[in-house]
Parts: sequence; C-alpha cells; structure tokens
Amino acid sequence: MTSQNDIIKALEADLVQASNEHAIAQVKSKYLGNNSFISEQLRLLPGLAPEEKAQKGKELNILKNQIEHAITEAREQLLSSQQFPIKDISLPGQRFKQPYGHMHPASRVLQETYKIFSDLGFAVVDSGEIETDWYNFEALNMPETHPAREMQDTFYIKNNGKLDVLPRTHTSGMQVRFMEANKPPFKIIVPGRVFRNEDEDVTHIWAFHQIEGLVVGEGVSMAQLKGTLLHVVQGILGPEADIRFRPSYFPYTEPSVELDCRYKGQWLELGGAGMINPVVLQNGGIDPEKYTGFAFGWGAERIAAIKYGLDDLRELWRPRFEFLEQFV
Ligand code: DAH
Repeated sequence: MTSQNDIIKALEADLVQASNEHAIAQVKSKYLGNNSFISEQLRLLPGLAPEEKAQKGKELNILKNQIEHAITEAREQLLSSQQFPIKDISLPGQRFKQPYGHMHPASRVLQETYKIFSDLGFAVVDSGEIETDWYNFEALNMPETHPAREMQDTFYIKNNGKLDVLPRTHTSGMQVRFMEANKPPFKIIVPGRVFRNEDEDVTHIWAFHQIEGLVVGEGVSMAQLKGTLLHVVQGILGPEADIRFRPSYFPYTEPSVELDCRYKGQWLELGGAGMINPVVLQNGGIDPEKYTGFAFGWGAERIAAIKYGLDDLRELWRPRFEFLEQFV
C-alpha cells in the first residue's frame, strides 16, 4: 500500500513542476479530488471496525492537512514570485536588457535637440525631401554656374536636360520657403533627411539628417548666434562642452563660419553657420535694411556620434541589434 511519505514526496515533486495557477489546480485535484487516494480511503472508512476506523481516520486527516498545506504554500510562493522576482544579489552585475524596443540613439539626440530649441522659443518646422533647384541652390545665392555648388555632391535629376527637382542636399532650402510664407520675427529649426552623392566611409553617409536653424528679426546679432549654439550644444553634451567658430564660406551667409564643438578634450566639426546674406533675405521677400538674421545647419548623426563616442557613422543606420542594444 502507498505510504503517506510516498504520497507527500510525489506531491512535492508535482508541485515543483507546477509553474502556474492552472497546474497547481490540477495537482490539487489529483491529490484531493474525487478520484484521489485520500477520497478513496475516506470512502472505505465506514466499513472498518470502530478502532481501526478511528485510527485510520486520524491518519487520513493528518495526510489531508499536509496536502492542503503544501498546496497552499506552493500557490503563495507562485504569487509572490510573480510580484517580486527572486534575485540573487550576490551575483555579478548584469546589464538590464529590455525585452522590447527602445529609442534609436540618433532619434534620442534629435528629441533632446527639439526640446532644447523649443525651450528657447524655436518652432520645429516640417519640410519635404524633394526640393526644387531654386530653393536648394539659386535662392541661396548659388546660380547654376556657381562654384559653391561643388561643395555638395548632388544627385541631380534632369528633366528634359534641365535641372528641375532634386533630392535636397541640405535643409537650407527651407530658409527662403519659410521667409516667403512668414513675417519676421521668427525662430525656427528644420530637421530632416538630406542626400549627397557621396562615397561612404566612417564619417560620410549618403543620406543623413541635418538640423537647420533660422532666426530673423530686428537687430539679430552674431553674438546671439554663438550664445544660442553654445546653449544647445551644452544642453546635449553637458556643461563641459564648448564651441568655436572658424572663418568659412557659404554663399548664403556673410560672414560665414564653421562650427566646431569640444567634447572630452577633442574638437570636432559639427556644421556651418553665419549671418544671413541680405540677398537671401531679399529672395524671401524680407527687407534686409530692416531685418537681420542668423542661420546654421548641423549634422544630426554627427552630434549623436560625438555624444556616444562612435567612430563609424554608418553603424547608426545599420540594422545591427548588437550595436543598437548598447544604447538602451
Ligand atoms: N547647408 C550647409 C551644409 O549642408 C550647412 C549650413 C551652413 C547651413 C551655413 C546654414 C548656414 O544655415 O548658415 O553644409
């Protein structure tokens, strides 16, 4: 005959296997249900002699209590492990891995950038990736024969032998578009993807993101340009970051500068900037005698690479989860 010990052992083994409420309920029915050993034995009691009946009844009661106790305990353990997963705090640290996705590092830097500019009162303006030759080049003081067009390796789309539209080479095309449709004063940033006919290497990709900035008003100065850029760069990279201007040339700004930032002891180029050329203001229908403005444009991937210490920009847009998972 089955001993009480055997039953308890079998019960414990079954409970170890039972990993959810349903499984525990099944164990309960196996050991306490109608067809269980206990129920069977209890049904036999009335046929026994009085002494034996008293003795057997007592034993069965004890066994039944033990079974009920073990099942209740197993259920409580299951519930508490669901609420508080058991952790061995003596184990070495483990990087927390989210079982679901997280924001892409480039998107995260973009979001932070939008927030900092918005706090300064800039509006974030949407734009299109296909631009006309006029807005991308001519309106920015770069006629068809202007050598400055060589600064950007363009994917040209020729329509009947004539330039018409192109995948924009920079977000600066939005400058004159926005000026035409809005009266100063205004402060905007225009984030977006741009395209260059470029051979890829660790610092160049053929489709990347820029953030264009445009501020027009009365008495807007170069000092304000520098103060704004310093504030934003420090907002993204931290207060120890610094910026510097190097003299440069863009047909749409005068004077023009190259913007570098210093982060962790290294100077890195971030983009271009300058005071808006009066010709550009005029093309946008704004009186350059009354208004001045500054503009800038920088690479969104560049600042993400600087912030996260990446040495190959191309990694950012490769679907390589081992790489992206580092940025949880
Ligand atoms: N459009 C330039 C580029 O793609 C960056 C730039 C320079 C934007 C000067 C500006 C600016 O608005 O004023 O390299």
